[in-house]
Amino acid sequence: MKKILITGGAGFIGSHVVRLFVNKYPDYHIYNLDKLTYAGNLENLKDIEDAPNYTFIKGDIVDEKFINELFAKNEFDAVIHLAAESHVDRSITNPMEFIYTNVVGTVNLLNAARFVWKDDFSDKLFYHVSTDEVYGSLDEGGFFLETTPYDPQSPYSASKASSDHFVRAYHNTYGIPVVITNCSNNYGPNQFPEKLIPLFINNILNKKPLPVYGKGENVRDWLYVVDHARAIDVVFHKGKTGETYNIGGFNEWKNIDLIKVLCKTVDEKLGNPPGTSETLITYVKDRAGHDLRYAIDATKIMNELGWKPSLQFEEGISKTVDWYLENKEWLDNVTSGAYQDYYEKQYRTR
Ligand code: NAD
Ligand code: DAU
Repeated sequence: MKKILITGGAGFIGSHVVRLFVNKYPDYHIYNLDKLTYAGNLENLKDIEDAPNYTFIKGDIVDEKFINELFAKNEFDAVIHLAAESHVDRSITNPMEFIYTNVVGTVNLLNAARFVWKDDFSDKLFYHVSTDEVYGSLDEGGFFLETTPYDPQSPYSASKASSDHFVRAYHNTYGIPVVITNCSNNYGPNQFPEKLIPLFINNILNKKPLPVYGKGENVRDWLYVVDHARAIDVVFHKGKTGETYNIGGFNEWKNIDLIKVLCKTVDEKLGNPPGTSETLITYVKDRAGHDLRYAIDATKIMNELGWKPSLQFEEGISKTVDWYLENKEWLDNVTSGAYQDYYEKQYRTR
């Protein structure tokens, strides 16, 4: 039985990856290692928590001794590394957390894998999940290719870029089989409501202002989270060692346009008169160093590995809004306590 360590499996994307692997591959044993920070939530995995091929391990990837012992005990065949501090706004207020988890944590995992694999790399893989933000910011034209030079602009993207460099360096220097994917903005069920889409759904439900940074003209490329998990499955099984694959939806939206679609979708589902939620839109102080535009060219993974997104954006947004409306309790649980403190600090002065 193949032993696969998935880090950050209690988070947004990680939980979808864990679910897909546990259900699709009964002959793999999936170990989910997660520190359960504010963003990690075992409620996300209720449906598979008793599966015979699933084990949850609570732990911190920054803890070198713990990680070395974990690898020595379990001798994983592969790692799919998603654990990270992932929110740009938090990286602006507290960059050090990002350096510890995203950089030091990644290098700890690489060292531990190198130690237990002892230069015998047959059937081994270190899969590093990264972001399109490492490429920096685009103007109106052009796309990020796998060959685009790195130009990270926020502490978050700088920490992810650094971790990508370490992963490549360990491949070049020690021969560790690695693969890296750089994906665009994900949306869908189980996303913590500090990121744009779930934050705005939650605020609409609570009749709170919708804080649009700057003029709302920044552009992001949006991909439904299950399609990202499907892409990770494809790259894990068919990707070429040492390669990088971009993952994206060819689905660019200016923030303000996306927000209007979101408002309309929620209003329709709640039976509100048209235009109700748009009245909550409030323009606030821009994010420091706000990247103007991200746009991924995902041609390589499509042509070489045969992956493509399965959902159109309208369908994805509709499913996402349905999920949040049907899971009010999940939303209420994650927005109590520490979330209120975060929200107060983040938006008080905007
Ligand atoms: P998330 O913040 O929802 O989840 C991160 C998970 O990592 C949480 O469960 C958290 O508890 C865990 N974690 C954090 N620090 C840890 C530590 N020190 N030790 C162990 N576990 C720890 O993040 P997400 O949005 O699901 O992103 C997952 C990965 O995908 C990240 O590496 C992120 O950079 C990347 N990514 C995210 C997006 C996106 O749009 N969300 C897009 C591209 C790439
Ligand atoms: O591109 C991939 C990245 O996408 C991932 O690597 C990150 O982990 C993920 O958080 C996401 O980063 P963004 O900064 O693009 O996502 P966020 O949801 O925070 O913001 C999306 C856009 O919406 C961005 O232009 C900022 C804007 N925004 C965000 C918030 C939270 C607002 O206008 N108001 C807000 O309150």
